[in-house]
Amino acid sequence: MRRPLVAGNWKMHGTRASVAELIKGLRQLALPSGVEVAVLPPCLYINQVVTGLEGKAIAVGAQNCAVEPMQGALTGEISPSQLADAGCSLVLVGHSERRLVLGERDDVLSRKFAAAQSCGLVPLLCVGETLEQRQAGRTLEVVAGQLGSVIEELGAGAFAKAVVAYEPVWAIGTGLTATPQQAQEVHAAIRAQLSAENAEIARGVRILYGGSVKAANAVELFGMPDIDGGLIGGASLNADEFGAICRAAGN
Ligand code: 13P
Repeated sequence: MRRPLVAGNWKMHGTRASVAELIKGLRQLALPSGVEVAVLPPCLYINQVVTGLEGKAIAVGAQNCAVEPMQGALTGEISPSQLADAGCSLVLVGHSERRLVLGERDDVLSRKFAAAQSCGLVPLLCVGETLEQRQAGRTLEVVAGQLGSVIEELGAGAFAKAVVAYEPVWAIGTGLTATPQQAQEVHAAIRAQLSAENAEIARGVRILYGGSVKAANAVELFGMPDIDGGLIGGASLNADEFGAICRAAGN
């Protein structure tokens, strides 16, 4: 049995004051015991969130990390070892906003993935197609390429301690959600690709769906056989909405 995971990606949102409010709201949530819950604040606020959520069963992670595991001369970056030191247990790798806006390529992402794991962080690899790619019928090919490049570099074994998130770019922040069937098709393909390398790892790996998930559509999405939780953007900035999504993953 795969334990569902719901992770809130706060992206580049928040101030010290709004983060304090959000922490207050998160502390009050009744969370389902069978669901792992995490939040991913901007780095600047990780310390505030780790301290503020002490004693609450919510893990804290980062949205990005450096390609090098240990601290050193790399201006502007934050190493996975520093994130672990700050209390993080997971880190996003390859969010589409970083792939598309900052030009992060697959080879760089494999390095980040490996660096994170070497420091004990769980990498959460994001994959997904653009609208143009979907309309051209290339969804499965694009996703397979993104996943395949990490498998090729690090082996399927690396997914024993990792999570995959399928986030169709056209569904992010647009209010458009993939239908449960559209998402399930891609999730099944991701699992099949891993299974071709290592069936046991494929059975155990959690594959999250992300893209305009709200409390109102979460139950249906999380009800699909290969959807093991969600990566939540906008809706994770509202503690009550986020709590309702976490409860949907527990059903
Ligand atoms: P939204 O939930 O705001 O669409 O964002 C999804 C996302 O990109 C999470 O990483």
